[in-house]
Amino acid sequence: MPKRLFIGIAALLLAGLLVAGALLGGTDSTATVQSAAPADTADTLYTQRTPSRNGTGKVYMGREISNVMGHRGADWLERPARETKERPDLLVDSLPLDPSDTVADIGAGTGYLTFRVAPRVPQGNVLAVDIQPEMLSMIRERIADRDINNVTPVRGTVTDPQLPADSVDLAYMVDAYHEFSHPYEMMTALYEDLTPGGRVVLVEYRREDPSIPIKTLHKMTEAQAKKEMRAVGLEWVETKEMLPRQHFMIFRKPVE
Ligand SMILES: C[S@@+](CC[C@H](N)C(=O)[O-])C[C@H]1O[C@@H](n2cnc3c(N)ncnc32)[C@H](O)[C@@H]1O
Repeated sequence: MPKRLFIGIAALLLAGLLVAGALLGGTDSTATVQSAAPADTADTLYTQRTPSRNGTGKVYMGREISNVMGHRGADWLERPARETKERPDLLVDSLPLDPSDTVADIGAGTGYLTFRVAPRVPQGNVLAVDIQPEMLSMIRERIADRDINNVTPVRGTVTDPQLPADSVDLAYMVDAYHEFSHPYEMMTALYEDLTPGGRVVLVEYRREDPSIPIKTLHKMTEAQAKKEMRAVGLEWVETKEMLPRQHFMIFRKPVE
């Protein structure tokens, strides 16, 4: 069979499996989008299995990647209860920031954290990266409404945040990394965008704790996160557990 025909049939079968998985998975409080991922069939980094609920069926280092939360879930990201249940104030206070830093909010969504971080870098800049144009439009509206001049929306791809090389002092990802359809490619590209000694802060719901009321694939264990960051050359610095529901994990690009 010609290779292109084979890939086409495989892609159709995969799409069918994903749609069936989404339909059979029951109701979901957030809309989902399937990422327009390039064919991975020849890629040894990833394996494919029947998708579990809210999952893509794509497995990376033993972890099934979750579906991407669609822009229709914007209200959920902005829910008022988040202030008390997740303490974004503590999260922002714990980010290792200098006032002139270039910061990247990868998977920024509506900008819930972007606009809390921007005042902390008055001489710097926050690059708000997302793959969904609808999310970036919401961020643009807020920039205009509030007359903010140090937030830049950036349209990333599923494999690359599309940031300038060697420019980012701190990149943070809040409830986003577990959705990346191509985590290895994303983090390899981000590694190049970090300055030497640049930090990555990964905030993920604690999967070790079954009482945290978040879907399993939207949580990560600390051990899994460390393993995946190590795979792209990032060094673990420390994990802080001051947040009620999430790990706050700091990694660093080594200084060569
Ligand atoms: C659950 S939302 C979290 C948004 C925000 N960080 C927050 O805490 O409110 C995850 C976001 O990650 C984005 N996302 C998923 N894969 C991405 C990728 N490869 N690059 C950039 N953004 C991505 C989604 O579009 C979505 O807006």
